[in-house]
Amino acid sequence: MAKSLEEKFQQSIDAEQKIEPKDYMPDAYRRNLIRQIAQHAHSEIIGMLPEGNWITRAPTLRRKVALLAKVQDEAGHGLYLYSAMETLGKSRDESLQELIDGKAKYSSIFNYPTTSWADIGAIGWLVDGAAIVNQVALQRTSYGPYARAMVRICKEESFHQRQGFEIMTSLAKGTAEQKEMAQRALNKIWWPALMMFGPSDKDSVHSAQSLKWKIKRQSNDELRQAFVDITVPQAEFLGLTIPDKDLKWNEKRGHYDFGQINWEEFYQVIKGNGPCNKERLAARRKAQENGEWVKKAALAYAEKHKKQQAA
Ligand code: 3HC
Repeated sequence: MAKSLEEKFQQSIDAEQKIEPKDYMPDAYRRNLIRQIAQHAHSEIIGMLPEGNWITRAPTLRRKVALLAKVQDEAGHGLYLYSAMETLGKSRDESLQELIDGKAKYSSIFNYPTTSWADIGAIGWLVDGAAIVNQVALQRTSYGPYARAMVRICKEESFHQRQGFEIMTSLAKGTAEQKEMAQRALNKIWWPALMMFGPSDKDSVHSAQSLKWKIKRQSNDELRQAFVDITVPQAEFLGLTIPDKDLKWNEKRGHYDFGQINWEEFYQVIKGNGPCNKERLAARRKAQENGEWVKKAALAYAEKHKKQQAA
């Protein structure tokens, strides 16, 4: 009996074939990808806000240049991802409007305040470190344009993580006050960084289907565990204490056991009730309004150029 389109599609997925924009794909696959890629892109551009606040306050020219480069990279990551989303038929304008209308999600981590320079170091070290663990796995996602965007993004993320870890190293090996500042940043960002990987597998809404379609290659808990295992030795090198009294190496498992995540906090933040949700969306709205004239001018120029070409 002839295989259905869905069966042939799943066969291609199982055979590790990349799905390209013009290939047949179930509507649910398309919708799932638009959802995830849009949120990923929103996370990149909202993630520019907490760090952007510190470009003028960086302690040295070298730190300012590195942070400026990182924030510009994040804008580029957003562009790659919005472009990958558009190949699935979702308009960028519509998606950006959903973001500023508060109808779209972006990573919970960016709803926490960055009140000290050490927070910028901890973001690079922990947030970009977590993003690398998640995005390295996504380089093998079944949707071609998303996988290819990840390869480029991962190369730049490793610089982001390194510059953050270097900031934390200078502070942790600096004066007592600097080390204290680094410890406060670790205390603030550690648990929200673990929440970046999403709910636990038993509570994940999309994981089962996303794993079947190889949109996801590893589960939320697997990636979270990999991040903890990588990061604990780094904190030890810094001489900083991870704020988790249940953290301890489990020889039998070959992994670190760690404490219970505050899921109430997680769901409050993703519902819009985090410390900075309103501030982030207000800043995003203002950027969109202030940038409207640039967009209009660029589109008008492109239109005129196209007419001249056609004449
Ligand atoms: N923040 C906000 N929402 C989250 C979340 C988080 N940390 N974790 C999960 N959610 C949402 C999901 O979007 C989903 O809601 P939805 O149905 O409205 O979309 C719900 O919680 C249930 O979670 P699931 O586990 O079922 O959702 P997913 O299968 O989508 O898994 C994910 C969540 C692991 C974040 C996955 O979407 C993913 O891998 N996304 C791509 C990577 C990404 O977005 N990373 C964000 C950080 S990007 C970044 O850090 C930039 C760097 O340069 C600093």
